[in-house]
Amino acid sequence: MVTRLSENGPVLIGDKAPEFTAQTTHGPVNFPKDYEGKWVVLFSHPADFTPVCTTEFVAFAKRWKQFQELGTELIGLSIDQIFSHMKWTEWIKEKLGVEIPFPIIADNTGSIASLFGMLHSEASGTQTVRTVFVIDPKGIVRAIIYYPLNVGRNMDEILRLVKALQTSDKEKAAIPANWPNNELIGDRLIVPPPSSEKEAQERLKNYECYDWWFCHRQARGA
Ligand code: BEZ
Repeated sequence: MVTRLSENGPVLIGDKAPEFTAQTTHGPVNFPKDYEGKWVVLFSHPADFTPVCTTEFVAFAKRWKQFQELGTELIGLSIDQIFSHMKWTEWIKEKLGVEIPFPIIADNTGSIASLFGMLHSEASGTQTVRTVFVIDPKGIVRAIIYYPLNVGRNMDEILRLVKALQTSDKEKAAIPANWPNNELIGDRLIVPPPSSEKEAQERLKNYECYDWWFCHRQARGA
């Protein structure tokens, strides 16, 4: 028997995303109900009006259309007041010429940050660390990334992660390292493990394989 770590602890991969209501720069939100049927990237940043966070918001904004094309909504969050978020996005637009097209949650009390385990006390005090929660259309947490305060995230990797999860679901296959530019199999997909010796031998006939436990194939597409 396996004991789950998250009875009262942080949100883990495979959990249902915690529910909350909040004020955002785009109006009130009832999560995850308002996002049913969509993929969501919910991410936290330590604070408004800080340089690394500003570079992250510009990077997310520049890729917003690509996230939309994947049916994926971005939602930011920090322990700041709504007025602070509004002033900061106004500043980004005026000084950097970049409009922030996605909502930012004002988690004044830190209650949502606590719910999701975004506060890593020793590392971040009262500021959220840089977290990313990828949540699927059924409201299940499918991937989590944590980054420290002093290193900005790679938004192309977050885009790749969403694409990889969607492809894995659709193709019922696993996704190799650095996909779609994997060093061994390029953009090919990894066939799930066999469940019997007979199946293991059949795989060798049906797929390209390095061995029976490492078979790969082309994506079948839509
Ligand atoms: C920043 O975004 O620049 C930042 C925020 C909190 C701590 C350190 C850096």
